[in-house]
Amino acid sequence: MLRVKGLRLGFGPVPVLEGVDLRVEKGEFVSLVGPSGSGKSTLLRAISGLLPPEAGEVQRDFGLEELGFLFQEDALLPWRTARENVALGLRIRGLPKDKALAEADVWLTRLGLSGLGNRYPHQLSGGQRKRVALAQVLAIKPRLLLMDEPLASLDAILRTQVTRDLLSLVEAEGIAVLLVTHDLEEAISLSDRIYLLSRGPRARIVREYPVPFSRPRDPVGVRTDPRFGPLLRQLWQDLEEVSPCVVS
Ligand SMILES: Nc1ncnc2c1ncn2[C@@H]1O[C@H](COP(=O)(O)OP(=O)(O)OP(=O)(O)O)[C@@H](O)[C@H]1O
Ligand SMILES: [Mg+2]
Repeated sequence: MLRVKGLRLGFGPVPVLEGVDLRVEKGEFVSLVGPSGSGKSTLLRAISGLLPPEAGEVQRDFGLEELGFLFQEDALLPWRTARENVALGLRIRGLPKDKALAEADVWLTRLGLSGLGNRYPHQLSGGQRKRVALAQVLAIKPRLLLMDEPLASLDAILRTQVTRDLLSLVEAEGIAVLLVTHDLEEAISLSDRIYLLSRGPRARIVREYPVPFSRPRDPVGVRTDPRFGPLLRQLWQDLEEVSPCVVS
């Protein structure tokens, strides 16, 4: 459903990304890992059409209105309640207000937030706000969900709970995901495939790892699978190889 071919992109004479090839199939969960500053966020922005490629192409078999994007910072409007925030994307897509609010309530409930719909973002905890942001993006039923470390600010337990709920919802809805993460264990426990981006400038995909766990899957349970450890070690080793040495 998504093909990136020979992508080159940058902000000056030296490209940040060069010769980037990747694909995401229908309903597939793919993670992208790589050194800090290598160009992961830049790549997601190119896929979402925010940055035009200098060379190569981004092919999508769906429209931009079917693309969901979750950034690290949540983008809830502070002057709107949780349910109004969730309804917003639906209203932009033409749903009448009452229908959009009813649909928003369904999604808030699915994310464990029933009863909190009339609160404003500042009246919610950090984890609850993340769940509202997830409800907002899932409610539009995206074909592809791009996520740039959206849960990085949550503590480990909360993050595990939210990602587990996210995974079961995207599995149920058949939503494809491209996730940028620094957490290699998270990448393995959630993904069907993982891409490793090399260090920039001129970063490209240097390796692709199939993840051997089937779906639907318990992302906590797979961590004790005997195949988990070796894959994690391999990823660490390869990431260290492409990462710059900061302390010498
Ligand atoms: N608007 C911009 N103008 C100039 N340079 C930029 C711009 N955005 C990003 N860069 C540079 O492009 C490179 C890639 O940045 P990007 O944000 O894509 O990295 P990243 O892999 O997402 O890093 P991190 O893991 O730290 O989030 C960096 O060297 C960054 O400084
Ligand atoms: Mg980034």
